[in-house]
Amino acid sequence: MCGIVGYIGNKQAAPILLDGLSKLEYRGYDSAGIAVYNGEKIDMVKSKGRLKVLDELTHGGETLPGTVGIGHTRWATHGSPSDKNAHPHFNKDNSIVVVHNGIIENYLKLKKKLEKKGYKFVSETDTEVVAHLLDYYYNGNPLQAVTKIMHRMEGSYALGIIFQDHPDELYAVRKDSPLIVGHTDGGNIIASDVPAVLKYTRNVFFIENEEIVRMTRDTMEFFTVDEEPIEKESVKIDWDINAAEKGGYEHFMLKEMYEQPKAITDTFSPRLKDGNIVIEELNMSDEDIKAIKKIMIVACGSAYHTGITSKYVFEDMARLPVEVDLASEFRYRRPILEEGTLVIVISQSGETADTLAALRESQELGAKVLGIVNVVGSSIAREADNVMYTWAGPEIAVATTKAYSAQLIALYLLAMKFAYVRGMVDASEMEELIRDMKALPAQVEMLLNNKGKIQRFANRYLAAKDVFFIGRGIDYAISLEGSLKLKEISYIHSEAYAAGELKHGTISLIEEGTLVAAVLTQRDLYKKMISNMVEVGTRGAFVLAVTNEGNVEVERAADYVIYIPETNKYFTNSLAIIPLQLFGYYIAIGRGCDVDKPRNLAKSVTVE
Ligand code: AGP
Repeated sequence: MCGIVGYIGNKQAAPILLDGLSKLEYRGYDSAGIAVYNGEKIDMVKSKGRLKVLDELTHGGETLPGTVGIGHTRWATHGSPSDKNAHPHFNKDNSIVVVHNGIIENYLKLKKKLEKKGYKFVSETDTEVVAHLLDYYYNGNPLQAVTKIMHRMEGSYALGIIFQDHPDELYAVRKDSPLIVGHTDGGNIIASDVPAVLKYTRNVFFIENEEIVRMTRDTMEFFTVDEEPIEKESVKIDWDINAAEKGGYEHFMLKEMYEQPKAITDTFSPRLKDGNIVIEELNMSDEDIKAIKKIMIVACGSAYHTGITSKYVFEDMARLPVEVDLASEFRYRRPILEEGTLVIVISQSGETADTLAALRESQELGAKVLGIVNVVGSSIAREADNVMYTWAGPEIAVATTKAYSAQLIALYLLAMKFAYVRGMVDASEMEELIRDMKALPAQVEMLLNNKGKIQRFANRYLAAKDVFFIGRGIDYAISLEGSLKLKEISYIHSEAYAAGELKHGTISLIEEGTLVAAVLTQRDLYKKMISNMVEVGTRGAFVLAVTNEGNVEVERAADYVIYIPETNKYFTNSLAIIPLQLFGYYIAIGRGCDVDKPRNLAKSVTVE
């Protein structure tokens, strides 16, 4: 996600901004910029690429003299990475400048209104809308302009703002995107996250939703969105810089697991409008959707696993045939793509070589390709005919968690949209599905907070040699991902099996004490699953069951049960995967593995 920094004080601002932004690089970004008031006007330098480019362009900040400024590292969401899309953004006469972290969900509607009023836009970003909206409401009172735009904008934002004719003030405001402020020696600082300020202060104020900060060199005032002054207590930060980059979590992987509720929310909320699924980026009319005869899903690794899950969802909900294939197989088997086939490629990085090759192969065969991608402007995002982004933010840990969860949401939304358009789901069923989807973030959070139980169970299996994951239907897809999570970060051998397949050979591997994780969230398959659990249990296996709350019958066949909260049968993967992610994580750290950077693995496999 983006990073913002701001400074006002008695020192030169630019070096402080560059230093603060360098401490936010871990968040992932593709462009950066700073703006400083130089005594007469606001100067700005911004560019695509690493902070190093900005540092060279400004000679370490020397070419931007001044003691009040704002800076930004951009993780592209609206508009690909480029100089013009980089932040900060100006209003029309460069008298107001703003940096932003978050997503303004109604930016297109606001942009159209502003264009009708004669505003011209130079970028594709939602943030430039903020700059012009401030301009529109500004009448000499910065605080008033800020509160006015807050009443108009929907979505998430942490903003840093400078008004040229109030150069002794720096404004910041927060809604849903993190923002902290602190006193420094001879000034004040704002930032998206603790690492950017630790060099200057360990006493920070955490800004709450819809709070506004007005600061000068010596003062710091807090207001509500109704311009009422409020008092805030500062908090002492005792993290070291390394811990701070992980937000206090021990590993990026754990931090990203805890970011799953937000990744899920950010992926579905811009696409749920008045009880309908609106996926503008699909660029498909209802007729186009009705004309789809088959879906071909191609991906690698965990992304492939989400494809397997979605096959069950698309076929059961939308009655659409779906084929799922590994990109590395698809690209060499001379695939046959009949007329009316929609190809969907799924990729967190958008750079996976096999998946990119599968995309190109599909296009050569005349198929339209939809990309489900997390990195804006990545190769797959650029080359797909249409792209549906997962808004998970940058994922640092090699083992994917939040991007995987966001991919599931994107696929559920597609299946719901297709099912509705094709008349397989009616308005009341859609209402129920949307209600269940909106409940997922809180349910995921509840499961994450149950991590102690998982950790204790995991500590009993640090020396495990072989772990089997079994499931049927969607639960088989969950087993594939649970098994991959365990093996890729703990180096314990593991396999996932369609439970009905066990007796066709693999069951011969079950010995006394072998751990078998049985996933059973599909009610109509409970009985079949329980008999598979009995089969392995009678051969000595220790059976861990992951199942829905209330399915107590499972306890006669399981040695240990983890319950997940109620949701509809299509969405259970989003919940059941949480204890399995935690299981793999705690086994890996119990074995002293490098959880964030497992041996032999890369975050993006850009070569064959
Ligand atoms: C999953 O934890 C791994 N990081 C890996 O399987 C990954 O999902 C796969 O390499 C695909 O990557 P992509 O989503 O960036 O294309």
